[in-house]
Amino acid sequence: MADADTRAKWDRIAPHFDFMAGRGAEARWKPFKQQLFSHMEGRILFLALGTGLDIATFPPGRDITAIDISPRMLEQARPRIEAYPGTIRTECIDVHAMPFAPDHFDQIYTSCTFCSVPRPVEGLRALHRVLKPGGGLFMFEHTGSRYYPFRYMLNAMTLLTERAGPAMNRRTVDNVRAAGFKILEVNNIFLDVVKTVTAFKAPV
Ligand SMILES: C[S@@+](CC[C@H](N)C(=O)[O-])C[C@H]1O[C@@H](n2cnc3c(N)ncnc32)[C@H](O)[C@@H]1O
Repeated sequence: MADADTRAKWDRIAPHFDFMAGRGAEARWKPFKQQLFSHMEGRILFLALGTGLDIATFPPGRDITAIDISPRMLEQARPRIEAYPGTIRTECIDVHAMPFAPDHFDQIYTSCTFCSVPRPVEGLRALHRVLKPGGGLFMFEHTGSRYYPFRYMLNAMTLLTERAGPAMNRRTVDNVRAAGFKILEVNNIFLDVVKTVTAFKAPV
C-alpha cells in the first residue's frame, strides 16, 4: 500500500478513533502505559500520537516531539496537546521519511503503532537511525500470538481489520530485533498479545 493510502486510511478513521479505541480498553492499559512512559527524559520522539489518547499517561513537564502520518488524527489530538502540562510539538510525517538528523533523540516512545505502519521493519530501521547510540525504544503494542487458537484467530481477524485499520498478527518483537535493536525486556500484559517492549540501540 502506498503511503498516501496509509494517510488516507487514518484520516478516514480519525473522527471515529476514540470511540473505536473504547474507554474500557484505555482504562485497562493505562497503568502499564503510565509505567512505560514514566521513563521519559531528554530529547523525546513519540511516534504516532494519533488522537492523543496516550497523553493522559505522560509524566508532566516533558518536551516531546510527536509525529503522525495523518493530519486529521493530529487535529483530533489538539485539545489533549493543549491540556498537557509540558510541551508537545507535532509534525505530520511518515515514519519512513523522517527528516531528523541521525542519532538525534535520546529516547523514542510509541503505542499501538507497529500494527499500523505498513512496512514495520523499515519503519523500525528509520527509528534506529534517529536514536542516539545507547538510547532507548519504549513500545506498548498488540501483536500476533504464538499460541493456538489465538494465532489463527488473529490471522483471520487481520484479513478484515487491515483494510480499514490495524493488522492484528504482527511479529513486532522479531521486527524490532530485525531492525537492529537489542531487546532489553518484553513484558506480556494480556496473553502474549498485548505487551510492552523495551529495546536499545547498541552504544558505539
Ligand atoms: C492504532 S493508531 C494508534 C494511535 C495512538 N498511538 C493510540 O494508541 O491511541 C495508529 C497510528 O499510527 C499512525 N501511523 C500509521 N502509519 C504511520 C506511518 N507510516 N508513519 C507515522 N504514523 C503512522 C496512524 O495515523 C495512527 O494515528
